[in-house]
Amino acid sequence: MPSDRRTAVAHPNIALIKYWGKRDERLAVPNVDSLSMTLDVFPTTTTVRLDPASGTDGVTLDGTPAAGEPRRRVVAFLDLLRELSGRAEPAAVDTRNTVPTGAGLASSASGFAALAVAGAAAYGLDLDPTALSRLARRGSVSAARSIFAAFAVCHAGRGSGAAADLGSHAEPLDVPEFDPALVIALVDTGPKTVSSRAAMRRTVATSPLYGAWAASAGADLADMRAALRRGDLAAVGEIAERNSLGMHATMLAARPAVRYLSPATLAVLDGVLRLRRDGVPAYATMDAGPNVKVLCHPRDAARVGAAVREAAPGCATVTARRGPGARLTAGAD
Ligand code: PMV
Repeated sequence: MPSDRRTAVAHPNIALIKYWGKRDERLAVPNVDSLSMTLDVFPTTTTVRLDPASGTDGVTLDGTPAAGEPRRRVVAFLDLLRELSGRAEPAAVDTRNTVPTGAGLASSASGFAALAVAGAAAYGLDLDPTALSRLARRGSVSAARSIFAAFAVCHAGRGSGAAADLGSHAEPLDVPEFDPALVIALVDTGPKTVSSRAAMRRTVATSPLYGAWAASAGADLADMRAALRRGDLAAVGEIAERNSLGMHATMLAARPAVRYLSPATLAVLDGVLRLRRDGVPAYATMDAGPNVKVLCHPRDAARVGAAVREAAPGCATVTARRGPGARLTAGAD
């Protein structure tokens, strides 16, 4: 088994306390702490093979050569791996997503977590989970959390430069008893109109609401930790919903506005409110796209899925549970 060809699998995660906005774009250091659940659906599988004979990196995404921004981000990540390992070989990267790319369904989280794990191994870097999380963050902040199974907190770290880089990584959150369902409403799986990177840059630079939301994120995180420890689904859901709606409010106030929520998104949110009125604890969270993730008790997942599909005809649903952390696949190479 050649040691310079390694394959890793990672799953997306959905933030219950969101990260939005960076204080260092080059080092990908977030402004706020975040907290997420890694899912058991939509894995990404990535193989990194060092290719000394090639003059340049090769990047394929779902079997098609990548170009433009997706290729640039992968090559920048390979440059980082070469810098850290002191090696110079180009690499061939093959990535298979099972989630639509660029639709606000966390493909960059699973993608860069898998690339970090496979790439570190291929370049001979021996990194512990914290270091892998820090590394994955350089590809996409949310990827730092997909290194870990189930619930994870990503620290924004303190200061700037090397200190900020060192302090910003995820760590697992030990809540073994809390095992909710997340019903994912696939409202629209087309690529988003504004990348999350551009949207957060604009929000931080122009939205008068951004500072207030970021300032309230610390209290949301503390409340969320306590609710998770109590296994209090209603409190977890309420905090997640307010945190997400607040994040979208900051974007709506950006100049020009960034609006990811579509009429179908709002129809699903109305469906979630109706469920609550009917006594079903169900709570919504949205990322940088129109899709809605509804947190609920596993026994209510089928009813929640049916209510969502009724609220937004044509919308498919997928039910996720807590999933595994990123890992090398044994023996596949
Ligand atoms: O991972 P990025 O840099 O594409 O940012 C996405 C951020 C959100 O998904 C909207 C929130 C989060 O914390 O995952």
